[in-house]
Amino acid sequence: MHILNKVLLAGAMLMPAAAAAEYIPTPEILESRQEFEDARFGVFIHWGIYSMFGQGEWYLNYGLDRDEYAKAASGFYPGSFDAKAWVSAIKDAGAKYICITSRHHDGFSMWDTAQSDYNIVDATPFGRDVLKELADECEKQGIRLHFYYSHIDWTRDDYPMGRTGTTTGKDPEKADWPHYYDFMNAQLKELLTGYGKVGAIWFDGWWDRDEDATPFDWQLDQQYELIHSLQPGCLVGNNHHQTPFEGEDIQIFERDLPGENKAGLSGQDISRLPLETCETMNGMWGYKVKDQNYKDVPTLIRLLAGAAGKGANLLLNVGPQPNGEIPAAALDRFKGLGEWLGKYGETIYGTKAGDFPAQSWGTSTRRGDKLYVHILSAEAPVIYVPTDRKVVSAVAFDDRKPVKFVRHQNGGVSLNLDSIPDTADYIVELTTK
Ligand code: GLC
Repeated sequence: MHILNKVLLAGAMLMPAAAAAEYIPTPEILESRQEFEDARFGVFIHWGIYSMFGQGEWYLNYGLDRDEYAKAASGFYPGSFDAKAWVSAIKDAGAKYICITSRHHDGFSMWDTAQSDYNIVDATPFGRDVLKELADECEKQGIRLHFYYSHIDWTRDDYPMGRTGTTTGKDPEKADWPHYYDFMNAQLKELLTGYGKVGAIWFDGWWDRDEDATPFDWQLDQQYELIHSLQPGCLVGNNHHQTPFEGEDIQIFERDLPGENKAGLSGQDISRLPLETCETMNGMWGYKVKDQNYKDVPTLIRLLAGAAGKGANLLLNVGPQPNGEIPAAALDRFKGLGEWLGKYGETIYGTKAGDFPAQSWGTSTRRGDKLYVHILSAEAPVIYVPTDRKVVSAVAFDDRKPVKFVRHQNGGVSLNLDSIPDTADYIVELTTK
């Protein structure tokens, strides 16, 4: 079935009340999608008053009372927050965009919103609009900023509770979707009119109502239209774990590369939209004091190359500390990734997925007539590369030394590396016809 029909069908099934009109992306959107695809690497930031508890961003959901939880705001003073230091470290890591939580499921807004006092300027002694500071710094240093925005709210009564946030003390009698929908759109309007050019709005929470007997109508199409009308180049993405709905510009995967489903959140069809996989650097999105299990630099390099090999971006998360600093362990990983991308970025940025699905030894990326073979975990010095194209030369990316290869009768080549590579990603550059 044609992908568009498939998407339309999915849209019609999931949003019966508002039959989605066909979405035709504007030239501005097509340009943003291209920029997004070329970026290949972004940094995700989960930061809010939940960081203070050091237990991750879902802490409120684990049996806390919303009013008790909210008291944390009066003690939130991230005195070490320095937008310049954040953006510099992220740029040095080689990331091309930042996506930050503007408001997570706890309902606390990290900017000076006029729609609720439960925000960083009105409810904390810190009183600074960190999103504004970050937006200004991103603009200055030339890196794109995206906003994560939760559709769920575990604090406000008007959000009609789904399957999470049921124990925070909300009054279900006061659920008022039209009121909540207006609130969200007014907030989105603030973010899209007062914070410079926004690269994308990254929604999360649709799955909160995915067990409803009657499908819940989130009125996404009007919301997406609002975003596109306020900023014609702003991409829309939704972490709903489904094949994209009408009006969306990117397809998001959580904790798995497209086509994989180790975390149990994926399995959806892969669309033709730009793809992005988000993944944690340790095991949690928001700061978790107990979780020091950070992936090492070689693992992160393989993750990035693996994503690029599938034609997807990696959105790699960090959870800053309550004092406003990015954990040292994360800064160390940033540095390692930056050094690696400084040498090998050509094989990642602006590439397309390679010619074949991931192999046991690794993956590949393509730019023009170059096929970059990323050898991530070879078990033997001879690697079979199942490309359909005719290989005319092969060199080690590092030192440009020729790599021996044999062409096979019915397609593909075998590369002979002499020995099993011992680097995180050993790259062979093939020139193909
Ligand atoms: C999940 C979680 C959320 C996190 C997000 C990031 O949807 O609910 O806490 O922000 O994944 O991908």
